Amino acid sequence: MNLPLSLTINGVRREIVLDDPRVTLLDLLRERLDLTGTKKGCDRGQCGACTILVDGRRINSCLALAVSHDGAEITTIEGVGRGGELHPVQAAFIAHDGFQCGFCTPGQIMSGIGMIQEGQAGDDPERVRECMSGNLCRCGAYQGITEAVLEAQSNMTATKQRRSA
Ligand code: FES
Ligand code: FES
Repeated sequence: MNLPLSLTINGVRREIVLDDPRVTLLDLLRERLDLTGTKKGCDRGQCGACTILVDGRRINSCLALAVSHDGAEITTIEGVGRGGELHPVQAAFIAHDGFQCGFCTPGQIMSGIGMIQEGQAGDDPERVRECMSGNLCRCGAYQGITEAVLEAQSNMTATKQRRSA
């Protein structure tokens, strides 16, 4: 069975032919397109390690069938930096030690970016923790993660205001 699929991944249009309708976006990215920055933790929607943006919204890619997203725009951790520069959320994770082993980090960063884009981050640590509760960190780096998202949100808002002034 050949299932043609057209996806824009990190700004690049990809024409893909799947031979199995059960392939998830996570497996497509990691095993067929060599985009291994997105991690497979639980493979059942419980850890958030596989978080990516689909049409600007956060999803667990391990639960998403690739064939259901024909025509979608996908952003993975490989696509968030620009011209060799880190995304502000990536830079803030480094500045605030928002990781230890790093396994959950791509998912945390994608979730943080998604939350900021959704306008949900605000300046309340409790709200950030709640909105990112689907992203587990076995190393317990939650304090740094929360601080990083708050700082990135504040820096991104300040940059946007400067540009529109
Ligand atoms: S690998 Fe997708 S939620 Fe855990
Ligand atoms: S940094 Fe190790 S699991 Fe989060």
